[in-house]
Amino acid sequence: MPRQELESVNCSLIAMPVLENETPVTINPLIHGEMTPLIVIRCDDGVQVYANCCPHQGRRLDYAPDRFLTKDATLVCAAHGAVFGMADGLCLQGPCRGESLRSYGCQWQDGILRVEWPDTAG
Ligand code: FES
Repeated sequence: MPRQELESVNCSLIAMPVLENETPVTINPLIHGEMTPLIVIRCDDGVQVYANCCPHQGRRLDYAPDRFLTKDATLVCAAHGAVFGMADGLCLQGPCRGESLRSYGCQWQDGILRVEWPDTAG
């Protein structure tokens, strides 16, 4: 069974004031050598980081790079309309209702967003 450890990776230089509340943005950091599409959403004083990958069919949620359908603190998958709560990533409506976006812990350190990333090596 692979070892599961959390590794903090330097994902992006995003300053908290740049993030508008409930306005998702995408970042595509190289993690373990692979381009990794993530969604960053500021929800009031907190920040959520999700994989930009819908649990329904694994498609990106944005309809164009960095363009999302949003409504009332929800994020709508552009492919088939699954509706996810921005604050918890839970699918509230649509073909994958009850499933969740994969989320990652994160914190700000000197203006750098650091994401806790599972290390599956070894
Ligand atoms: S891939 Fe997102 S709702 Fe189908």
